[in-house]
Amino acid sequence: MANQSTETGRLAPPRSNETGSSGEPGKNLPRHIAIIMDGNGRWAASRGLPRTAGHKAGAETFRRIATYCKNIGVKYLTVYAFSTENWKRSETEVSAIMALLKKYLLEAVDTMERDHIRLHFFGDMTPIAPELRALARETDEITEHLSKDDFQANVCLNYGGRDEILRAARRFAADCAAGERRVEELDEALFSEYLDSAGIPDPELIIRPSGEQRLSNFLLWQCAYSEFYYTDTFWPDFDEAELDRAIAAYQSRDRRFGGVKK
Ligand code: IPE
Ligand code: IPE
Ligand code: MG
Repeated sequence: MANQSTETGRLAPPRSNETGSSGEPGKNLPRHIAIIMDGNGRWAASRGLPRTAGHKAGAETFRRIATYCKNIGVKYLTVYAFSTENWKRSETEVSAIMALLKKYLLEAVDTMERDHIRLHFFGDMTPIAPELRALARETDEITEHLSKDDFQANVCLNYGGRDEILRAARRFAADCAAGERRVEELDEALFSEYLDSAGIPDPELIIRPSGEQRLSNFLLWQCAYSEFYYTDTFWPDFDEAELDRAIAAYQSRDRRFGGVKK
């Protein structure tokens, strides 16, 4: 059966990605999974390594988990890579994270078309160094040419949920001032179109590794009815089996959206 555990403990590729009742293998696979990639620093410290080694290992985990999501039929993977608050870290650490992102993007511009991976950024790119910003723009342009059915990874860079909402509110206000929108038009659907996640369904499942149980300013608008899954595993050690467990936990839950259990 699709999406059933195989002998290796992995989920077999699902036949379809449609939403069905929970507990049915092959159905009810989250279309959109979001991950707070946390624990890189503690992973490194536990091995006597510098924090930057943890970020390097974390970048490899992202590559692996993105490939796995694509293979099992998840449509969107949104990862928290650098928050609006992460600038508080040492310059050495921030530079190392930016260098890793640059390295990843340089590889991605060459391979995303071949691998049918759409890559998109959430966050305010204004304070990002010009070279990295240009690369992000380039990947966005390539993404535009790929099929909308292809797997899409959203990387949150200089991202904060509150900042995203403020930027959206400012843009809507500017459109009103320009006479392109009217205040009375604003509803949840229209406001969503001003967010970085415009056109992307809300994540059904949000995963935070490393033992922390908080959102840290991640997807504040979009998480309204997301299911949360926490694990003590540090992000560099997070693997396919761990993702399978998170998906299985999601599939066992009753999502009522304010209604009553059927
Ligand atoms: C997540 O790992 C990566 C970023 C926030 C950039 P951390 O660097 O927060 O690792 P810990 O939480 O200190 O272990
Ligand atoms: C959240 O992790 C941000 C990212 C994973 C990019 P943090 O490590 O920055 O969050 P706090 O400080 O533990 O809340
Ligand atoms: Mg952390």
